[in-house]
Amino acid sequence: MLTTIARIGQHVGQEVRLGCWLYNKRGSGKIQFLQLRDGSGFIQGVVVKAEVAEDVWEQATKLTQESSLYITGIVRADDRAPSGYELNVTGVEIIQLAENYPISLKEHGVDFLMDHRHLWLRTPRQRAVMAVRSEVIRAMYEFFQENGFYKVDPPILTPTSAEGTTNLFHTKYFDEDAYLSQSGQLYMEAAAMALGRVYSFGPTFRAEKSKTRRHLIEFWMIEPEMAFVDQEENLRIQEAFVSHVVQSVLKNCQMELKTLERDTSKLENVKGDFPRISYDDAIKLLQEKGSDIKWGDDFGAPDETTIAEHFDKPVFITNYPTEIKAFYMKPDPNRPEVVLCADMIAPEGYGEIIGGSQRIDDPELLEKRFAEHELSEDAYRWYLDLRKYGTVPHSGFGLGLERTIAWICGLDHVRETIPFPRMLYRLYP
Ligand code: 4AD
Ligand code: MG
Repeated sequence: MLTTIARIGQHVGQEVRLGCWLYNKRGSGKIQFLQLRDGSGFIQGVVVKAEVAEDVWEQATKLTQESSLYITGIVRADDRAPSGYELNVTGVEIIQLAENYPISLKEHGVDFLMDHRHLWLRTPRQRAVMAVRSEVIRAMYEFFQENGFYKVDPPILTPTSAEGTTNLFHTKYFDEDAYLSQSGQLYMEAAAMALGRVYSFGPTFRAEKSKTRRHLIEFWMIEPEMAFVDQEENLRIQEAFVSHVVQSVLKNCQMELKTLERDTSKLENVKGDFPRISYDDAIKLLQEKGSDIKWGDDFGAPDETTIAEHFDKPVFITNYPTEIKAFYMKPDPNRPEVVLCADMIAPEGYGEIIGGSQRIDDPELLEKRFAEHELSEDAYRWYLDLRKYGTVPHSGFGLGLERTIAWICGLDHVRETIPFPRMLYRLYP
């Protein structure tokens, strides 16, 4: 029976069979060291000419980078091996000899790698990022399931905008106009009125002509929405949630974080209360640092980095000006020029990973906002209904998966955090 590299520790001293690819090879006329990968991990297979049948030796010497094979061998524990084990090879069965694999083990430029993303994914760093991504998703679901949330799936094809009309992806829905979802939030508010606490997880689309290391055209967002939850509780849930995700990755992805050479001491700190700074104080702080930013301006990426540098954990920036935030955010009753919202800014310059707020629950105010933002009442009638029939205080947030992974993995660019990134001017492969 086949086993996997991840499970090989259960078979020390036994002969096992693995389906795998050759990642790299070195050796001499007497011994070959095969670096093998099977997706679950990497292991070295040792082929000793004097100890194996002639055809096994021959097959082993023929192997090229990314050839596929079945290998048999006896598992040995080895403290020096990165995986902790080595394989004393007894049999090699080639499935296919790969020829001229385009990605060599030397450095390649980013464009070349992006053109070969379908193969680039096989390399140890990219595999590690994808494994962390999988763990982040698992831990997110775990947190919400354990805390009484229901998973609800909002639509992708929508008739209206959720976050503003400037960056919508337009398409036709037969004879009607339709847009790819920018956020499931509005639908999640309806779901929260039906199920109390809900979360969604899915792709969202923004036709932003931004070419930064934080922007994707298609990215994945997790969006919880909670009835009877105010701004304070919303922030409490966010810090518990992000702590759980980071601590889960630390616990379950040690090998991957090592491959990525991530300084994990910075992540260990991510638990307990997160610091908070009001928008007003953040503006003052930036001005003290010499910025000419004024009250009412939005923060750019460098501003976020300057603010985040003051803290060694993610920081909430709270209560932004009403003017620069989305139409659905609830104004502070004591100060209607700001809204009850918060962005969570990751440490180390990774920028905003969460946007969230308490939502407007008063139908009249919501109607006023429709007018101010020139949103058609017809299109949003269903959304107004949520305020007309048993309105309640409620809040929610959206966490951008790729930015969160870039931070946790310590990557320079979000393009490596998603299997097939959709970016400005890149739709292939
Ligand atoms: O701040 P945003 O736009 O908030 C919303 O969409 C709300 N409706 C969420 C909610 O309250 N349910 O986006 C939320 C997060 C950002 O903090 C960021 O992490 C990520 O989504 N994000 C992007 N990630 C990659 N590329 C982009 N172009 C992104 N735009 C937003
Ligand atoms: Mg935002």
